[in-house]
Amino acid sequence: MIDEFLAECREKVTSNFQNSLKERSKISDAMLYTSLAPSKCLRAGIVFATSKIENILSERSIVNIATAIESLHSYSLIHDDLPAMDNDDLRRGIPSNHIKFGEATAILAGDALQAFAFQLIAEDKDLSDSHKIKIISEISSACGFKGMVLGQQMDLDAENEPNENIEEIHSLKTGKLIRSSFISPLQDENTIKFLSPIAEQVGLAFQIIDDVLETTNPNGLGKNSESDIRNNKLTYVKQFGLDKAVTDAKLIIKKANLQLANEIKNHDAIDILTVILDYIVERKN
Ligand code: IPE
Ligand code: IPE
Ligand code: MG
Ligand code: MG
Repeated sequence: MIDEFLAECREKVTSNFQNSLKERSKISDAMLYTSLAPSKCLRAGIVFATSKIENILSERSIVNIATAIESLHSYSLIHDDLPAMDNDDLRRGIPSNHIKFGEATAILAGDALQAFAFQLIAEDKDLSDSHKIKIISEISSACGFKGMVLGQQMDLDAENEPNENIEEIHSLKTGKLIRSSFISPLQDENTIKFLSPIAEQVGLAFQIIDDVLETTNPNGLGKNSESDIRNNKLTYVKQFGLDKAVTDAKLIIKKANLQLANEIKNHDAIDILTVILDYIVERKN
């Protein structure tokens, strides 16, 4: 079920990227190269799933929100792989953006993907202005100097400073944008307030499993398997060991599933959210 669901989300997001970036240039080619390379499209899947909670957005808006978040995610991956950062030459099963297009174009493609995300929301034809502002506020704070970018800086600093707080790094560099995927389709303040801390925890569990998979399935990820070791990264596995990493991630997801089941009454929404949450800890790539 999860495979079909994510494949469907991926198809819609892919068409949106292709239609929106059809004016060909070196930059749009580089943007599409990483955005459309094989990926899980998990963040888009979360957007489609949580939009079922209120069930009031048009399909076009849901696709735009999902595409915007996947665009921010692709931007973060392109920059994450750069020589000055993790220096990885493989991403999504193909050469990293800077290997294919050169470092300068990769930096610019990441910049353009970031701007494109905000443009998609601002120019959406169906979202209310107040919802657009809420989404832009949510995703800009998730990615900015108190969010993903700060987490990425702390991740780099922790290469030489092993006493950094790994949970904080993971929550910032990965958890915040995953939280945005849950929150952005919603408008009801109470639902957002309830879902926010759960969503951030789910993001933490996602990154813990990312650390786990780099040791348990090194060849099945479509990215450099020795990256964390080569860069002397502080990871959840390094800090707490493999067993505790898996146990903690499973516990976070179990707790999140219980909280969601208690609160969310819409069956369509809860069914797919449960499947997505379970997938986050059970996935193999
Ligand atoms: C990888 O994200 C980077 C992290 C933030 C952990 P994903 O594992 O979601 O990568 P894709 O989108 O499937 O390529
Ligand atoms: C990536 O974290 C986080 C962001 C891109 C924001 P990692 O560096 O741990 O992820 P991978 O293993 O390269 O996908
Ligand atoms: Mg990194
Ligand atoms: Mg990396």
